[in-house]
Amino acid sequence: MKAPRHYLQFKDLTREEYDYLFARTAWLKERFKRYEPHHPLFDRTLVMIFEKASTRTRLSFEAGMQQLGGSAIYLNTRDSQLGRGEPVEDAAQVISRMSDMVMIRTFEQSIIERFAEYSRVPVINGLTNEYHPCQILADIFTFIEHRGPIQGKTVAWVGDSNNVCNTWLQAAEVLDFQVRVSTPPGYEVEPERAGLIGTGHFAHFSDPMEACRGADLVTTDVWTSMGFEAENEERMRDFADWQVDADMMQVANPDAVFMHCLPAHRGEEVSAEVIDGPQSVVWDEAENRLHVQKALMEYLLIGKVEGDCA
Ligand code: CP
Ligand code: NVA
Repeated sequence: MKAPRHYLQFKDLTREEYDYLFARTAWLKERFKRYEPHHPLFDRTLVMIFEKASTRTRLSFEAGMQQLGGSAIYLNTRDSQLGRGEPVEDAAQVISRMSDMVMIRTFEQSIIERFAEYSRVPVINGLTNEYHPCQILADIFTFIEHRGPIQGKTVAWVGDSNNVCNTWLQAAEVLDFQVRVSTPPGYEVEPERAGLIGTGHFAHFSDPMEACRGADLVTTDVWTSMGFEAENEERMRDFADWQVDADMMQVANPDAVFMHCLPAHRGEEVSAEVIDGPQSVVWDEAENRLHVQKALMEYLLIGKVEGDCA
């Protein structure tokens, strides 16, 4: 049996594969907007396992799989044996014998890696403590739609060096752009945890204004990610000066866009003026989760489709 292809972190795909996926996403999105059916995954089943809450990820995978002609099954820790101590390795063997693809949102990256090792079918990371590759796939597609190729551009990340930040950093190494990160002291990027190979695509700034200066894209995320709720009070104090506001957007490039993976907390990591303002592309960004993941699922299950995309 051929080993399945997984998508566990951003660097699991090459630059050429991303070029294909972005072109394919544009083609799929256009067909979707024209209400043209496209069912390459007819009769295929996606299992979605959630150990943390979700709105966008669940909705975009479930709707996306249906739109591709297949179906999706939702499992969570509360109502399945996963929450009662069944080993991940056993769950992977059983679940992957009854389905064609698995998407998992969980805690440590090691959990999804163990699952993938024992899975007969492709496994997709729907967010772990360390990474959120599907989010950055959507974010970069959104940037390309609005501003063209991301190669050589500058992204400013303001806030926590979390799963979304780590994935931006990996993407910069794969797709050749720069990320300027500003975090409060004590919350800096850990290059090893971020899975970086150290190609010099990232720089740290203690002043968030400096990180934003001249950036083509300014982005942030919640101060307290899922799983870190116990630190919430301390984080509210530590991150108080790391709110993306109009002054930060002012020093970025005049045509800079603002992104946020959502859900957002207005008045914490971003001001309402910025997220609801003219430079914000957050609704396109959220919608594009659907389109990029359809391209990804199609690619992992049937490979490149020659001829019928840009
Ligand atoms: N951005 C994102 O992954 O959203 P959800 O937590 O709602 O899935
Ligand atoms: N960093 C956030 C992203 C949520 C989509 C979290 O992990 O909670």
